[in-house]
Amino acid sequence: MKTLQIILLIFLSLFGAFCYSLPLSTRGRWIVDSETGRRVKLTCLNWVAHTETMVTEGLHTQPIKDIAAKVTSMGFNCIRLTYATFMWTRPDYNNKTLAQSLDSFNLTQAREGIARNNLQLLNLSLQDAYEAVVDELGANGLMLVIDNHVSTPMWCCAREDGNGFFGDMFFDPKEWKEGLTQVAKRFKGKPQVVAMSMRNEIRGPRQNLPDWYKNMREGAKAIHSTNPDVLVLVSGLNFDKDLSFLSTTPFGLTLDNKVVYEAHWYSFDFTQQWQTQPLNRVCRQRADEFQREAAFLITGDNAAPLIISEFGVDVRGVNQADNRYFNCFLPTVAEKDLDWELWTLQGSYYYREGKAGPEEVYSVLDYNWDKPRDPKYLERLTTLQQTIQDPNSTTLSYYLIVHTESGFCVNVEGEDNVHGSSCRERSKWSHGGDGWPIRLVGGEQCLKAVGDGVPVTLSTDCKSPRATWKLISDSRLHVAAMDEQGNSLCLEATSSNYSSILTRRCACVKNEANCDPQSQWFKLVPSNLS
Ligand SMILES: *[C@@H]1O[C@H](CO)[C@@H](O)[C@H](O)[C@H]1NC(C)=O
Ligand SMILES: *[C@@H]1O[C@H](CO)[C@@H](O)[C@H](O)[C@H]1NC(C)=O
Ligand SMILES: *[C@@H]1O[C@H](CO)[C@@H](O)[C@H](O)[C@H]1NC(C)=O
Ligand SMILES: *[C@@H]1O[C@H](CO)[C@@H](O)[C@H](O)[C@H]1NC(C)=O
Ligand SMILES: *[C@@H]1O[C@H](CO)[C@@H](O)[C@H](O)[C@H]1NC(C)=O
Repeated sequence: MKTLQIILLIFLSLFGAFCYSLPLSTRGRWIVDSETGRRVKLTCLNWVAHTETMVTEGLHTQPIKDIAAKVTSMGFNCIRLTYATFMWTRPDYNNKTLAQSLDSFNLTQAREGIARNNLQLLNLSLQDAYEAVVDELGANGLMLVIDNHVSTPMWCCAREDGNGFFGDMFFDPKEWKEGLTQVAKRFKGKPQVVAMSMRNEIRGPRQNLPDWYKNMREGAKAIHSTNPDVLVLVSGLNFDKDLSFLSTTPFGLTLDNKVVYEAHWYSFDFTQQWQTQPLNRVCRQRADEFQREAAFLITGDNAAPLIISEFGVDVRGVNQADNRYFNCFLPTVAEKDLDWELWTLQGSYYYREGKAGPEEVYSVLDYNWDKPRDPKYLERLTTLQQTIQDPNSTTLSYYLIVHTESGFCVNVEGEDNVHGSSCRERSKWSHGGDGWPIRLVGGEQCLKAVGDGVPVTLSTDCKSPRATWKLISDSRLHVAAMDEQGNSLCLEATSSNYSSILTRRCACVKNEANCDPQSQWFKLVPSNLS
């Protein structure tokens, strides 16, 4: 295959610099560099460009390259840039310049901001402005997933908004394929465009499997025949939560190792469960559902990569269901080391749902696109931002022990000081399963529970019940040892000092009502990085 290639330098604080080339392909469940076969993990941010104005958000705040630099400095390597089909297929939508589009919504301040910060875009057509954003992000070392979000430029997604399923008022399959083809053509030969996703959150009363298979196969072929370099992201039913049907009837196309599946996972639909039901049980149920509906795809004979194309929380921390869901999401996804696209970058919109300048509270950046909304949120993403599993590694697998609420790892400093700290440091642990010690790899020492409310220590006495550990409760996120009286003691870290790793009596492991176990949620995350 003839391909244009560029070398991107990715600076990982831990491993120094290494290189990979594009395009990307799939190998079993992994996304890999086509040339070397080495894994490339996509850790993306969503960035919206599909609403009424069809203008990439935030360009009024600073030059594109400064936004790109923020994305990189926050530890992400790619952008899922959304678009509306009509921008590519309908002259009455795409006949405007960027300035004219903003003017048609009276967005004077936004236009003036763009004139100050990204003047070169102002008089470009909407399509050319979109392409200029893609080029500038690529020039600044980011990969892009180009995402067909809606047909009609507008906020997405209601069940019956005419954009939900093939045959809906604004979702003509023929026009949709034409849009995919236009986009595939426009970005052919641009190596930073590593993937195209076929359609965001398919949904609504019309959804059915025969039409899904027929159209998704045709759409995938249309993209691949036009631009054979890009990965093709295949989305499921029910707002992209459900791909379970592929376990009985596989998609049936591999497109020369370019097919990747995508799924969304939010707290939505289960808000009440997260708020009112025992959390160990809810987490187990939600993780099992995610496995059934999507994660099964990375295993078995037809194993393919799965990317979580949307997930995220109200970053202000005020949404209890979101907060709890996220503590369950993180360990589940870290264990599988999936690729992902976080919702979202933009701290504000030019125009959304009839309002000028509304805020986005699920964003990593603040309203002014200036600073991270909450640095602690980024800390919690640290584990997921790293490559956890390398299919080409020759290192034996070990565990990181991740505390989900803080995002800290259980690390050892000096001889024997056990504490919680950034997962950029990684102490390597081994655990033979329930009833076995948790040993520091390469030594004789193991974790030992000293007592209720007392910091855990390292010990060479690895046979005592205090040093043999089980994963307990429905969530299996409690890591428990036992004292001489038979009391279970669980690892714990609380917001008063997340650096301090204690043991306390195990909490809520029998699904007691009104009981919050989250300070005791730790995940043994398998890794094989040297
Ligand atoms: C990684 O592993 C695959 C499969 O075994 C192999 O084809 C590829 O050459 C390896 N790449 C590197 C850089 O070792
Ligand atoms: C674009 O097309 C629409 C519909 O034909 C028309 O009303 C509008 O004036 C055109 N806009 C521009 C800027 O040409
Ligand atoms: C823009 O302002 C004009 C004049 O005040 C008004 O007629 C029009 O409805 C406004 N457009 C939008 C989208 O608010
Ligand atoms: C954009 O177009 C307007 C109207 O034609 C013109 O006044 C302005 O100078 C142009 N700006 C740039 C940066 O080309
Ligand atoms: C937090 O805990 C760590 C580890 O036990 C300890 O070194 C540190 O002094 C504590 N910090 C505070 C503010 O108490």
